Amino acid sequence: MKKVQFTETVLRDANQSLIATRLPYEVYEPILDRIDKAGYYAVECWGGATFDVCLRYLNEDPWERLQKLRQKLPNSKLQMLLRGQNLLGYKHYPDDVVRKFVALSVKNGIDIVRIFDALNDITNMKVAIEETLKCGGLASGAIAYTTSPVHTLSNYVNLVKELKQMGVGSICIKDMAGIMGPKEAYDLVSAIKDAVDLPVDVHTHSTTGLAFMTYLKAVEAGADIIDTAISPFSGGTSQPATETLAYALRQLGYEVTTNDGVLTEIADFFKPIRDRYIADGTLMAKSLATDTQCLTYQIPGGMLSNLLSQLKMMNALNRLDEALLETPKVRADLGYPPLVTPTSQMVGAQAVQNVLAGERYKNVSKEIVAYCRGEYGKTPAPIDPQVLKRVLGDEQPLTGRYADTLEPAFEKAKAELGDLARCDEDVLSYIAFPQLAEAFFQNRQAQEENVATYTIQEA
Ligand code: CO
Repeated sequence: MKKVQFTETVLRDANQSLIATRLPYEVYEPILDRIDKAGYYAVECWGGATFDVCLRYLNEDPWERLQKLRQKLPNSKLQMLLRGQNLLGYKHYPDDVVRKFVALSVKNGIDIVRIFDALNDITNMKVAIEETLKCGGLASGAIAYTTSPVHTLSNYVNLVKELKQMGVGSICIKDMAGIMGPKEAYDLVSAIKDAVDLPVDVHTHSTTGLAFMTYLKAVEAGADIIDTAISPFSGGTSQPATETLAYALRQLGYEVTTNDGVLTEIADFFKPIRDRYIADGTLMAKSLATDTQCLTYQIPGGMLSNLLSQLKMMNALNRLDEALLETPKVRADLGYPPLVTPTSQMVGAQAVQNVLAGERYKNVSKEIVAYCRGEYGKTPAPIDPQVLKRVLGDEQPLTGRYADTLEPAFEKAKAELGDLARCDEDVLSYIAFPQLAEAFFQNRQAQEENVATYTIQEA
């Protein structure tokens, strides 16, 4: 009997996709003991936006959260999502920072580091993969899924072979927009399985309603792991429901390792929490709805709403059709980047600019300039030479890896922080989000001083 395993996303991707990662640790702590016994392959619980939101909105130390998760989930594999050389942010960090970040993530409890790059540029994934392996973690090499004339099966297979050579322990197909259909999933998983002998994990979102069918065909083609969310936090922009897939796959004769009774307990726990977020407006109806527009326009749902709000701000909603037609043209000009943060915003904003200015590439954002310089990595196809000339003038784009041009930054940041940092983890928080982390440290110190004064008075 073929075994299919589940990675539960409620603590990370479901939480991020439905309620902008607003679940504080204390809220879900009581259910961790059940999650630990549910029979999941892994629990995705850290990385992505967790780090940012902990510091910005929740007044939580993200590293402490990880330590607590490790303690409460002793039998589970903990998974994090890492944006390669960008770590958890939007810019490239020097290698010393990437290595330190990965090393401390593993040291504090992460078992699986899922590593991807928005452009699928493997040189942006290499250092993170290397360091994960060095520290004894499992590096999962993720490919960002998209469709374009250059995103062919054979190109994906080449990418996967290179990842295997780097020593990854599994391959993840990461469809961040939920645009991968069942046939595409079947073909891609089959091709990967033929090419490399590695477990394949498929990750998609329910946004367009394809996800259940996509997973079914992916499993038929030999996928070993699928990413799902416990039912109250499933559907819409999140993943499809864990219980539903367990039910259907078991019925089809697959060996499913999750425990139904425990899954019910976890679902019962999260139902009232979901209802609370619906009541206070954090969880919006549209996030739970099925939206097929991105199949029509081939652009992710989040990007479409960005486009709309931009046009609205400029009082130009009537130009939407033109902007929608311009978007794939800009993407083609830029060498078909997968539309994922941050490229989706860059491409969308440029399309709006091109339409409103009445002249293509008359106004160009500094992000597009950096992209054309090669600071985000190698583009899937070459950038259109005329566009490149228009954006860069006579300047030559970078030929090597952008991170190689960056000075080491860890020791410098450590010195800068002085006593405010109590450990190397603090220094990394500071490097990732300087203002947020500094405010957090100051607040932490002030709180402790208050407690200290109070204790003295008590005595
Ligand atoms: Co996702």
